Amino acid sequence: MIQLERISVKYGQALALEEISLQIDFHEIVAIVGRNGAGKTTLLKALIGLMPLVAGRRMLGDQDISKLDVEAIAKLGVALVPDMRRIFPNLSVLENLKIGTIGHQPGHWTVDRVLEAFPRLQERLSFGGDQLSGGEQQMLAIGRALLANPRMLLLDEPTEGLAPVIVEQLVHVFAEVHRQGTGIVLVEQNLKVPMKLAQRQYVLDHGQVVWSGTNEELDAQRAHVESLLTTGAAV
Ligand SMILES: Nc1ncnc2c1ncn2[C@@H]1O[C@H](COP(=O)(O)OP(=O)(O)O)[C@@H](O)[C@H]1O
Ligand SMILES: [Mg+2]
Repeated sequence: MIQLERISVKYGQALALEEISLQIDFHEIVAIVGRNGAGKTTLLKALIGLMPLVAGRRMLGDQDISKLDVEAIAKLGVALVPDMRRIFPNLSVLENLKIGTIGHQPGHWTVDRVLEAFPRLQERLSFGGDQLSGGEQQMLAIGRALLANPRMLLLDEPTEGLAPVIVEQLVHVFAEVHRQGTGIVLVEQNLKVPMKLAQRQYVLDHGQVVWSGTNEELDAQRAHVESLLTTGAAV
């Protein structure tokens, strides 16, 4: 499992994350939910080694990986699908996917299996990245990350701005990815998709974990948790 122990992170002098603790097993789906600006993307960056920790520790099992950089952590099998999707506009769908296979771990996910999971990409193999809809770009970004056969996939607001029918397809694929043995950290601004997929949730606000619990606990405290996401009630 990956564990953050009371980590703090700064941009310049500004504290962006304050004493955050969390632990995520490689076999579960965990959601990190919070309003815009809560610190979700920064937390993902801290998980993959893109942000130096000013306090606390990052652990992988018993191993202290606080000092490892982003490449070393990627080699441990943690892959990020960033919020801007970052596909190559001038490369075709197939070329974008092939880039995902560079230096990858062999495993379940091959180009063929990704195309099976995302039939729309199969239909658009020779399209340029810039000819894809938002949903197709998201599928391509996820497919490319899967080709590394990560042990854990971090998804930064993957359903943002997508039509409900596309969101349904993504939920289906995320469940399949999990069934194939990859853990998922799902970052979202609301509870809709997390409640369908995740077993546990962390709610972030002002760079702190303001609530965490299982779906049963969430059901029992739904109004309170929703208020943390909408009004950003005090910690
Ligand atoms: N590169 C940056 N430089 C300075 N401040 C930043 C930077 N990126 C994010 N922040 C600030 O850190 C806080 C958390 O941002 P972020 O992690 O992007 O939130 P979220 O992903 O939840 O919307 C916000 O106050 C944001 O303005
Ligand atoms: Mg963000």
